[in-house]
Amino acid sequence: MKAIIPKGFGPVVRLAVGERAKPSPGRNDVLVKVHAASVNPKDWKLNLSLARAAPPVGRRFVPPLFGDDLSGEVVEVGANVDGFEVGDRVYGMDMRLRTASLAEYAVIDQRRIAHMPANATFAEAAAVPLAGQTALQALRKGGSSVLIIGASGGVGTYAVQIAKQLGCHVTGVCSTRNIDLVRSLGADAVIDYTAGDYRQPKGPHARAFDLVFDVTSFETPASCAALLAPDGYFVSTMGHARGMAGTLLARRRNASLIRVESWTADLETIGHWMAAGAVCSVIDSTFGLAETQQAYDRSRTGRARGKIVIEVAGA
Ligand SMILES: NC(=O)c1ccc[n+]([C@@H]2O[C@H](COP(=O)([O-])OP(=O)(O)OC[C@H]3O[C@@H](n4cnc5c(N)ncnc54)[C@H](OP(=O)(O)O)[C@@H]3O)[C@@H](O)[C@H]2O)c1
Repeated sequence: MKAIIPKGFGPVVRLAVGERAKPSPGRNDVLVKVHAASVNPKDWKLNLSLARAAPPVGRRFVPPLFGDDLSGEVVEVGANVDGFEVGDRVYGMDMRLRTASLAEYAVIDQRRIAHMPANATFAEAAAVPLAGQTALQALRKGGSSVLIIGASGGVGTYAVQIAKQLGCHVTGVCSTRNIDLVRSLGADAVIDYTAGDYRQPKGPHARAFDLVFDVTSFETPASCAALLAPDGYFVSTMGHARGMAGTLLARRRNASLIRVESWTADLETIGHWMAAGAVCSVIDSTFGLAETQQAYDRSRTGRARGKIVIEVAGA
């Protein structure tokens, strides 16, 4: 089958279409004919960190496959699979086993997928699993007044909408060009991070937030102390070492790092909101499988508005 085969590490990694053996489902898996996948910064960050780890000279070192999120059609089910049948339209991702979704077919554990909302396209469904579940799992930390730092990206666009569904008063932090987008997703207030240091608020935002969700991973509980209510909670996506260290050190001070996992129930929760028209996938751009390199180049800019999608079917 056609699949993306990464070659090399770091800034020079090449993501070209090659051939890989079609996988077979285990007892708890389904085999999915992949229609769409989506891009997450995790793939290129992992590849980059392996480059920095400098693999021993002379030892063969194969780059891990790219692609966690998928949507598509079930074409085969394992012996223990219950609740999914051939022909079902599903979406999901598997962080532990790596979904390897940039391929015509992918095998995925039944606990990591759900049926697609009836009104969603394959592109809209493929955008959800990693980013949407990160947002949901972070926002479950609680709080009625929520600040989302990085509200215009893959995780942030779901976080704003999901926080509204959870009944929160939502303030989003983004740059000037994304203010209208973040407002349109339901944010009650928007802070433009280019207009000054929002971490040192003097007005109504001072110590106002029960929950600060830092999607950019640049911040720490200490850098956001002036925003957090006295018993407020800080949660980060831990995308950067600096933010990760600061958050871990502050563990006792109501802070944690998210390590997203895919669960059928969480996908169904988001799927119900999508079916009701309350949550949507914001698509930054769409690429074909042969354009995967350009899709990841776009992600590396750090400027995506919502999710970058790769259409796999018809590759
Ligand atoms: N731990 C986990 O389980 C987990 C799960 C998901 C994601 N992550 C990590 O979370 C991070 C975000 O993921 P993502 O998919 O949302 O990334 P993304 O889609 O690439 O984020 C891009 C967005 O970030 C905004 N942005 C950049 N710098 C900003 C700043 N200083 N303040 C506010 N907004 C800023 C950009 O808007 P502008 O262009 O306007 O600046 C852009 O809209 C990544 O580091 C990722 O690796 C971790």
